Amino acid sequence: MSQSDIGLIGLGTMGAMLSLNIADNGFDISVFNRTTSRTTEFKAGAGDLSDKITACETLEELVASIKPPRAIILMVPAGEIVDQQIAALRPLLDDTDMIIDAGNANFRDTERRAADAKAQGVPFLGIGVSGGEEGARFGPSIMGGGPKQGWDRVSNILTAISAKYEDTPCATWMGEGGAGHFVKAVHNGIEYADMQMIAETYGIMRDGQGMSADACATVFEAWNKGPLQSYLVEISGKVAAADDESGTAMLDVIMDKAGQKGTGRWTVIEAQHLGAPVPVIEAAVAARNLSALKDERLKGEEAYGAAPMSLPDGALTDDDLEQALMVGKIMCYAQGYALLNAASAEFKWDLPMADIAEVWREGCIIRSAMLNDMASALTEDAQRNLIFAPYFAKLINANLPSLRKTVTTAMAHGLQVPALAAALSYFDTMRTGRSTANMIQAQRDFFGAHGFERVDKDGKGFHGPWGGQL
Ligand code: 6PG
Repeated sequence: MSQSDIGLIGLGTMGAMLSLNIADNGFDISVFNRTTSRTTEFKAGAGDLSDKITACETLEELVASIKPPRAIILMVPAGEIVDQQIAALRPLLDDTDMIIDAGNANFRDTERRAADAKAQGVPFLGIGVSGGEEGARFGPSIMGGGPKQGWDRVSNILTAISAKYEDTPCATWMGEGGAGHFVKAVHNGIEYADMQMIAETYGIMRDGQGMSADACATVFEAWNKGPLQSYLVEISGKVAAADDESGTAMLDVIMDKAGQKGTGRWTVIEAQHLGAPVPVIEAAVAARNLSALKDERLKGEEAYGAAPMSLPDGALTDDDLEQALMVGKIMCYAQGYALLNAASAEFKWDLPMADIAEVWREGCIIRSAMLNDMASALTEDAQRNLIFAPYFAKLINANLPSLRKTVTTAMAHGLQVPALAAALSYFDTMRTGRSTANMIQAQRDFFGAHGFERVDKDGKGFHGPWGGQL
């Protein structure tokens, strides 16, 4: 019997779709799932692709069915299960065989697993895969991490199954160790922020302008034909247009508590560790956490009454909101890329900044028309903050008044726009040469003699005239 090109463990939705995608691209694949019935059922349901799939009942069978040197993808829930799976599988493998964790791992776990693998002299890859169920089946965006030779061994398969942007595969090696999973986490942080800012414009339309879900859908559909063209705006139009079985707008009956698996939170935590501010993403994560406090919010509404929210006619136009969203998005990416740059330096990854924008152009959740322009701007200068790229500077200058008008108008009426407000505040801070941190430094020196620098003299460790006042 001929052996498979690759193996995969974990036939949940993503694993099953990825396996079908691999088979569909002409590769033979061996699959294993903890529950054998799922494996059997998966092969039986694979239709024409079933010939390319070897269903294995044990890990030993799986290993024996793959061509050496083997490559086995893990598509199991992130966390301890990955460690358990590696512990069960590794003893059955040769030293040249490679385990590939394709789940949404915390990059710190991937760094640890990569270091363990290095110490054992065995190859290990951690790859970020984005695109949800449909992406996994028909072309995800893939962010690879681990030893370059390991990536090169499987890059033919990973590029074949990935999404394509005008024939360019959206699959790239990002760097050693946890680089791929770090880039995926930042992708998810941006995903959270993008979703939140869209939700904020929806809130202005629904609560500020009294628009129905259907009317909001029409606006999103129009935006998706312009500079905001993106998967998330597209699906926002679709979800706003959908009705439930009784004919009620689906959005109107969905509980307003957002879930999260934690990847956006990891981005914010790492940004804090690195001192690389991502306030738009922070606002989005906080907004999800606040959304979960439904009971308390109801209590608050009872105690204080809801804010008026309703806007005077014509206070904000669709164009204002569209332009506000554009600038918000640029700020969010500027922060995301600055974080990637900081991580690249800290972890010595040498992240390929323009390639990151390129692999996000198709297949992933944050794919959008703007990413191609970001790739160009990062090709010109990978270290420069995106707000200083001439192309984006022009967009910011043209659309900033709408962001300011949207944020101030919304806030004046009690409409909540935390991520858009964070974007505006970030921009205003980034163009203020003289900040107010002189006050912070004076306070620190007053209570802790921490010392400060002066604007009029060179050197550090100056103190104010408040000695003896403690
Ligand atoms: C992707 C997504 C995906 C993520 C979901 C849910 O790129 O395909 O980021 O990996 O798991 O979007 O994430 P939350 O549950 O954290 O919202």
